Amino acid sequence: MKVIVTKNTEELAEQALQVMLDVVKNKPNAVIGLATGSSPVGLYKKMIEDCKNNGTSYANIKSVNLDEYVGLGIESDQSYVYFMNDNLFKGIDIKQENTNLPNGKAADMAKECERYTALLNSMPQDIQLLGIGANGHIGFNEPNTPFNSTTHIVELEEGTRRDNARFFASLDEVPTHAITMGISNIMNAKKILVVANGANKAKAVYQMIKGEVSENCPASILQKHNDVVVVVDEAAYSLCK
Ligand code: GLP
Repeated sequence: MKVIVTKNTEELAEQALQVMLDVVKNKPNAVIGLATGSSPVGLYKKMIEDCKNNGTSYANIKSVNLDEYVGLGIESDQSYVYFMNDNLFKGIDIKQENTNLPNGKAADMAKECERYTALLNSMPQDIQLLGIGANGHIGFNEPNTPFNSTTHIVELEEGTRRDNARFFASLDEVPTHAITMGISNIMNAKKILVVANGANKAKAVYQMIKGEVSENCPASILQKHNDVVVVVDEAAYSLCK
């Protein structure tokens, strides 16, 4: 695991950008795994700037996203499909048909899980971007999700719903369930880039980097992957010193 500690979120986004560009520039038809939440927003802004100013092209790039809330679709500005369009896709030249997210509104969610896992198997990620939940979740794989899991439906922990309530009008509006790539789908990526900032992530970051590898902390499995770059600010790294 390579760990880069940055002074602030600006530097964090810049460092993460370099890791992402290294993949995109070396393989113009790469599959990039993307994430939502506030942690990747600075990186996405920089990808848009770089595409506009330096001409980095995503015309042949394909993307796969980690997760989606069950019951939400593009018409909801809290959905992850809306988030991705708004924060990244509309600002770069990626083709809409090359972007993929699990469908939170599929009529048959069990079939949707199978479809998404098959899709991931057919186009493994060259890089997978991850944020980390305060409880150590990756994607929406909450603590005690089996390490060998594939795409599945999860019931969100109360704490996760509270953490994400800031994006909704009230806690009641936060969906109770999500569809997420499983941990084995994440580990299948050739390279993994984790971004985390702020003191509320310090415990999860410690467990991810230095803790016991255990299903109690989903992110701890990343210690077993052979190409992981973690970019964190000093507050998120504080317990690792
Ligand atoms: C959500 C997402 C995760 C993300 C996490 C952290 O739960 N499903 O993929 O890593 O939030 O979010 P934030 O970056 O906003 O702290």
